Amino acid sequence: MLKIDRVTKVYKVGTFGGDEMTAVRDVSFDVNPGEVISLIGESGSGKTTVGRMILRLASVSGGSITYNGVDISTLKGRKLKSYYADVQGVFQDPFSSYNPIFKADRVFKMIKDAYFPGMSKAEWRSKLGASLEAVTLDPVQVLNKFPHQLSGGQLQRLLIARALLLDIRILIADEIISMLDASTRIDVLNLLGELKSRGLGIIFITHDLSLGNYISEKTVILRRGLIVEMGATEKVFGNPTHPYTKMLLASVPQLHRKWDEVAKELEVSDDLLIDPDAAKRVYESVGEILAPDALDSVLVETESDHVVRYSPEEAKEKMKSPAKEKKKSPPARKRG
Ligand SMILES: Nc1ncnc2c1ncn2[C@@H]1O[C@H](COP(=O)(O)OP(=O)(O)OP(=O)(O)O)[C@@H](O)[C@H]1O
Ligand SMILES: [Mg+2]
Repeated sequence: MLKIDRVTKVYKVGTFGGDEMTAVRDVSFDVNPGEVISLIGESGSGKTTVGRMILRLASVSGGSITYNGVDISTLKGRKLKSYYADVQGVFQDPFSSYNPIFKADRVFKMIKDAYFPGMSKAEWRSKLGASLEAVTLDPVQVLNKFPHQLSGGQLQRLLIARALLLDIRILIADEIISMLDASTRIDVLNLLGELKSRGLGIIFITHDLSLGNYISEKTVILRRGLIVEMGATEKVFGNPTHPYTKMLLASVPQLHRKWDEVAKELEVSDDLLIDPDAAKRVYESVGEILAPDALDSVLVETESDHVVRYSPEEAKEKMKSPAKEKKKSPPARKRG
């Protein structure tokens, strides 16, 4: 239904916009109903940019995004409105989604005015009640309050509730878990699980590999805007093949955190480490240890439902000798 096809995003940067920065490069994947797909990668790898392009908050510089066969960049007026009735996002920083001078529940009123103008008050109240209940919020505690009177987790869940009012088909969930405390996390994860079983497709953007593994059936590993590995979650996690994926799985549970924080939590004192500076460097610059993939590198299907990025030479080798794979897997093929 939602198809991201060889999408690239180039930002103009520099004082006069004279330089270019490619944030997303040739990214392709599909999202189907009832499917959770995780986008995983270090800070700056392009995850949010992919989400923003799907929501048309950023334009596409190359490639296309289609929804039910229609290129979303062509949508206007009523058609665009009905796209947003199907596809919604909840982003990293909930505070930025609210205008501090208005009460937080104004976000619901905006949905009512745009999508349910004729609905009776009573009907709307029960609809709103149901969606607040789905995100385990008590209306008494959250309605009629200003954003600063609510916690980050409450604001986050209000945004999810807003998306649910629309009976959406696809949810882009960008780091929605990191803002939440431990008990709410479980609630929201369970909620996502339930939405999935109701047929919602979810793009789950995260730094946290274990969350990705827990919730998704497909995993996309992004590095510097390029997909380095992608496939069925059990294959990517069970048989990580690209050096970057291996490194992520081996060493860095939570990329957004500073080593000092993690060391403190794990009670790792400097004198337990042979070279504390090296540990810090390794932890904080995980992406810098490996040379970036060359632009002429290609994704190769190494087994069914599992693609890995290789240099052209390695790819040729791989395609010559697919015999190492189990017999049933189709031969490796080049994907772009
Ligand atoms: N509006 C913009 N103008 C210029 N560059 C941008 C813009 N938005 C993002 N970028 C750059 O694009 C790259 C990808 O950013 P993006 O926000 O997609 O990363 P991310 O994977 O979501 O990172 P994080 O995990 O920190 O949220 C970064 O280098 C960022 O600085
Ligand atoms: Mg981001």
